[in-house]
Amino acid sequence: MEGQVSSAAENAQVRPMAVADLVQVLEIAAGLPDAPHWPQSAYIKALDPAASPRRIALVAVGSSSAVSGFAAASLVPPQAELETIAVAAEFQRQGLGRRLFDALVDELREAGVREVVLEVRAGNRTAHSFYRSLGFGEVGMRRAYYTEPVDDAVLMRLRLGQM
Ligand SMILES: CC(C)(COP(=O)(O)OP(=O)(O)OC[C@H]1O[C@@H](n2cnc3c(N)ncnc32)[C@H](O)[C@@H]1OP(=O)(O)O)[C@@H](O)C(=O)NCCC(=O)NCCS
Repeated sequence: MEGQVSSAAENAQVRPMAVADLVQVLEIAAGLPDAPHWPQSAYIKALDPAASPRRIALVAVGSSSAVSGFAAASLVPPQAELETIAVAAEFQRQGLGRRLFDALVDELREAGVREVVLEVRAGNRTAHSFYRSLGFGEVGMRRAYYTEPVDDAVLMRLRLGQM
């Protein structure tokens, strides 16, 4: 019924990732075969404001404060690379991925980013559809870029344009 609709995205808050979130972030990634599986040290580096390149990492948290998704991008303005975005399986397809990405774009714009690029496994059709829904277009392909299993990398780009 209208007015009673509640989705993960509506209930979620998006905020910067903190070291205290990493146990949950690693758990979500471990449960998703298609998510990049960064070691904890890579996330800790991503949270270091002095690291180069600079990274922005965000988490989505639900009403119980549990982490339900996360995203990270590296920045070399005017370009940024979306390095990872993942939503826990039970919260997928409820608008949370889009919500995380929109929040990330707000921060990227503030940092002077005008274009976001990414690489995605050709076989990851869900991610491909997701990125296309966000406005990304294909700009290239790297043959057999990924291993275990071998797969092509599709390169995608989104121009953020003027605000
Ligand atoms: C990709 C991912 C982050 C999307 O998160 P999500 O919260 O489920 O996405 P949203 O609900 O915001 O979906 C936004 C749009 O993306 C597209 N989309 C998302 N999941 C899709 C699917 N399974 N099939 C087709 N299209 C899909 C749709 O257009 C959707 O809009 P709609 O629901 O109104 O049709 C999530 O599926 C995920 O964590 N996958 C595993 C990790 C991964 O592959 N990450 C990307 C590589 S780093």
